[in-house]
Amino acid sequence: MPIISLSINDSLLEKLDNVLKYKGYSSRSEALRDFIRDIVVEAEWAKGTSEETIAVILVIYDKSVHREPLFSLEHNYDDIIHTLMHMHLDQVNCLEVFVVKGASMRIMEIIQKINQIKGVKQVKYVSTLAEV
Ligand code: NI
Repeated sequence: MPIISLSINDSLLEKLDNVLKYKGYSSRSEALRDFIRDIVVEAEWAKGTSEETIAVILVIYDKSVHREPLFSLEHNYDDIIHTLMHMHLDQVNCLEVFVVKGASMRIMEIIQKINQIKGVKQVKYVSTLAEV
């Protein structure tokens, strides 16, 4: 593994060490590798060209509206949707959790389509690459 050196001022280093301690990192190298992975993953996602990506998508929607658009979307993308979970949140809202694996372009497509469905109140996702 190549070794790189880094110049950083005292004040920023002190802040960094505090964050690392708070987050439970055992070394600066471990933390910086994690940060670098995050930057790489974000850039790959932004390009939309990654073939092997994973995302967890959370959807909160009003259960009183017609659910057919959400169900047909789930069937249309069943080749990349690996897990689906449904939870009744309260009298009004339901939560749908999608675990998807596939090309980032198609995952972004699902997220855009979910956003367009009537009754969907919130869509959040966490994404990464299948190999980092
Ligand atoms: Ni429900």
